[in-house]
Amino acid sequence: MQAEYILRGQVLSFAGTPFEGDSPEAAVKLHEAVAIGGGKVLELGTWDGLRKAHQMAELVDHGNRLILAGFVDAHVHFPQTAIIASWGKRLIDWLNSYTFPEEMRFGDRAYADEIAGRYLDLTRANGTTTMCSYCTIHPESVDAFFAAAQARGQRVVAGKTCMDRNAPDGLRDTAQSAHDDSAALIGRWHGVDRLSYAITPRFSPTSTPEQLEAMGALWADHPDCLMQTHLSEQTDEIAWVKSLFPEARDYLDTYEQFGLLGARGLYGHAIHLEDRERARLREVGAALVHCPTSNTFIGSGLFDMAGLMAEGQRIGLATDTGGGSSFSMLRTMAAAYEVGQLRGTPLHAAQLLWLATQGSARALHMGDQIGNIAPGMEADLVVLDLASTPAIAQRSAGAKDLWESVFATIMMGDDRAVAEVWINGARD
Ligand code: GUN
Ligand code: ZN
Repeated sequence: MQAEYILRGQVLSFAGTPFEGDSPEAAVKLHEAVAIGGGKVLELGTWDGLRKAHQMAELVDHGNRLILAGFVDAHVHFPQTAIIASWGKRLIDWLNSYTFPEEMRFGDRAYADEIAGRYLDLTRANGTTTMCSYCTIHPESVDAFFAAAQARGQRVVAGKTCMDRNAPDGLRDTAQSAHDDSAALIGRWHGVDRLSYAITPRFSPTSTPEQLEAMGALWADHPDCLMQTHLSEQTDEIAWVKSLFPEARDYLDTYEQFGLLGARGLYGHAIHLEDRERARLREVGAALVHCPTSNTFIGSGLFDMAGLMAEGQRIGLATDTGGGSSFSMLRTMAAAYEVGQLRGTPLHAAQLLWLATQGSARALHMGDQIGNIAPGMEADLVVLDLASTPAIAQRSAGAKDLWESVFATIMMGDDRAVAEVWINGARD
């Protein structure tokens, strides 16, 4: 196939996993150029070689900018866009004071449309091309998000958040309506274009056992859907779950006993895990999602990345907007680095980039489609300027290799570092 575009830069492709093998860098292959066409990555190679092979292609020369797969944010709440960075509360108070009042507004389709568009614009400016989002209890919020993503050609995952207790009037569904509304949304959106559905019980405290059971039954009926929820984020929350489910062996068991534990399950935060929980999550191949800016912002705790990776868990990286304090996966990688430092296990820049792309894509079971630049993969790309501000430029100028330079952008970069974004083979 003839390419439509050839991009030149430092094209970063993962040939392996930087958490395995001799060194994190060894997992990375750099190429001079990438050819794309028909929404896909066609070929990696030299600038001269690809130009000869694809003579009709438009040439896009990015010099020494870094070209990598678009960022994949494995856990967000798009309806919390307008309340990001709200001060002074821990999880349960934060939900009651800021989150629930804002989420009540999403029964209004026009408001849901406005925030979905605003959220996707902000995240695209930060280089994020795919995300897995919670919506609100309102089906309108799901329609708004999928319609906005569809119009932008984006691969996204989302689902109606289900809650039938411990939430205010106007923000509760029932076991039956949660099941039926979710089923209708699956029928409407799952597998349409690049959209897919995640069954979304918010977390055990806001679902009755009856609702969790209905969600488990729905997942059994639609096993190709993902399922997303929250797990062991704060110690107060865990104590609350124990009091609500006195029979459960642990927090994870409140999902497991209702059929809500599986390989296609995404468990956000997963900070304060017991041994049995870790063993079961590993056994089924479930995904844990690290949300470092949220975990420090809401005061939740320090995710055990090194320990969980070493035991072979599937792990993605996420902003958790708006519990997380940033829309940026660069800032999120920086926070993951800082959390690693506090645990005495710093992450290499190659590991951070992998988590923000291929790691999160694998958490979503989309690692063969997105999250890497390789032939046949979908052409969602981000082009990073490694000297986007005077502070970063002066550090980059003294860098002894690419990794020092990339690390400066990870630690200090923001949307100014995002020079260009490509979605589905088209320049944005
Ligand atoms: N646990 C249940 N709901 C939420 C939420 O919206 N944000 C975070 N960070 N944790 C949660
Ligand atoms: Zn969350």
